[in-house]
Amino acid sequence: MKGQIVREDIAKVLLSEEQIQKRVRELGEELTRDYADCDGEVILICILKGAVMFFSDLARAMNMHMQMEFMGISSYGNEQKTSGIVRITKDIDTSITDKHVIIAEDIMDSGLTLSHLAKLLSSRSPASLKICCLLDKPSRRECDISPDYCGFIIPNEFVVGYGLDYLGFYRNLPYVGVLKPSVYSGE
Ligand code: IMP
Ligand code: MG
Repeated sequence: MKGQIVREDIAKVLLSEEQIQKRVRELGEELTRDYADCDGEVILICILKGAVMFFSDLARAMNMHMQMEFMGISSYGNEQKTSGIVRITKDIDTSITDKHVIIAEDIMDSGLTLSHLAKLLSSRSPASLKICCLLDKPSRRECDISPDYCGFIIPNEFVVGYGLDYLGFYRNLPYVGVLKPSVYSGE
């Protein structure tokens, strides 16, 4: 990984920058329509760190008065598969009671992270709570949950870029790609 240009580590681009930007704009328009009656009552929550790119593009594609909040939640450690253990590393700074909450997340994989998070946020009595994911890997689901809004359904491949990481790297790629196997094996 180190000493190489980042893009040389990518085996294939799964979603191009153009595809992502177009789809995120569409999601923003859909949310703008769906939340037209909730102007000023919407809180968009960014799940750090993976959702950071998606969140900032999505927020700019939503034409309404809303608040932005940030939450750190970790279920992955530094490995490629989920541990099932979800830990809050940073809570939001404001009350969501009676607000319309939209969770912006990078990807739904096993679903354990979002299932835990949705339960936790529901207990704070929001007026509504929806999940908006850029990516969905339904084939990997381990619990009964699916995103209310989804950018792309993808196959069971480990992807990086546009916020998604491998060992903390590759988040800054403007597209979503699959890593070369040599990166995992450290060759
Ligand atoms: P879940 O609890 O299994 O749904 O895991 C969700 C979290 O796992 C996401 O927020 C990501 O941080 C991480 N994750 C799942 N699949 C991938 C992937 O393909 N690439 C990078 N991170 C992933
Ligand atoms: Mg991650």
